[in-house]
Amino acid sequence: MRLCVIAGDGIGREVTEVAVDVLTALLPDLQMSEHEAGWDTFCRTGSALPEATLASARDCKAVLFGAVSSPARKVAGYRSPIVALRRALDCYANLRPTRSLPLAGGRADLDLLIVRENTEDLYIGEEHSDGETATAIKRITRHASMRVAEVAFELAARRARQRLSIIHKANILPLTDGLFRDAARTVAETYPQVAVDELLVDTAALRLVQAPQAFDVLLAPNLYGDILSDLAAGLNGGLGLAPSLSVGQGVAIAEPVHGSAPDIAGQGRANPVAALLSVAMLLRHHWQLPGKADALESAIRQLLSDGIATADLGGTASTRAFGRAVLARLAH
Ligand code: NAI
Ligand code: MG
Repeated sequence: MRLCVIAGDGIGREVTEVAVDVLTALLPDLQMSEHEAGWDTFCRTGSALPEATLASARDCKAVLFGAVSSPARKVAGYRSPIVALRRALDCYANLRPTRSLPLAGGRADLDLLIVRENTEDLYIGEEHSDGETATAIKRITRHASMRVAEVAFELAARRARQRLSIIHKANILPLTDGLFRDAARTVAETYPQVAVDELLVDTAALRLVQAPQAFDVLLAPNLYGDILSDLAAGLNGGLGLAPSLSVGQGVAIAEPVHGSAPDIAGQGRANPVAALLSVAMLLRHHWQLPGKADALESAIRQLLSDGIATADLGGTASTRAFGRAVLARLAH
């Protein structure tokens, strides 16, 4: 088994360091190779996603991705390498679960899964501007909508509640979001056991805040899935706890939902739980090692319920100290 590790920028490096140590303990025979990507790499080499990184990711068929920084302005030649990587590896579905964790004051009743389309929508990056008028292309295809819906329904069918909500804004975007919705409805016909409803994305945001426990699986186009998953993370202790796995044609990317967090980078304060829970998803769904995934998840739960946590959760543990505590638990 092999893993391509892309730490990236900022806290991406800090959390992947912990995740790599934990994986080494769980899978001593795993061959890991570290590769670069991100803003620092772009500044140094002119490429945000070097060919060698992409080749290793393809080869290993499994990637651990920390986070990268992307400037919020146009920089010639730069494109977000994680968006490019998902597309290049055809990891077309991004699974973003939110499950309650044992935190003081935390909610006990959350168990939802956002399935986000990962290859198109506004993320194709086709923007044009003459300085006065700027346009971005939102591209939705039946092909991409059907295959991500297939993943979402398959997962919904295996969950206890077997419910799925299609998220869209087809009242304003009847052709693009309407196509996404209709494709999902077509797939729904082959899963009669799954109860389906649909929600406008703004209403979904409201309901997620008011009654998140009513949701089971949410299926969303790329942009809405991105936004709603930060909202869901906010219901459950923040971005430091939110994992994800991008899947598609046999390659998987474990990637925490958070970014490079420049406000705390370099201080050793980043919460590594999001990255660790992403690794647990890789163990469970990609490598079919549910025992190892359970061991890692329960070590994290134990630590959190014992009040061992990083500063974002009100604790005093550093990133590395939390990592050492996970290793100690696993060695028990
Ligand atoms: P962010 O996710 O990096 O941070 C948002 C807030 O959450 C910050 O206050 C940060 O300190 C906190 N936070 C995030 N992860 C945390 C963790 N593990 N532990 C404790 N606190 C944590 O989003 P932001 O600040 O909007 O973006 C920063 C950079 O990250 C940008 O350049 C953006 O383009 C990039 N980004 C990259 C992503 C990726 O590589 N997958 C995803 C999202 C943003
Ligand atoms: Mg995001």
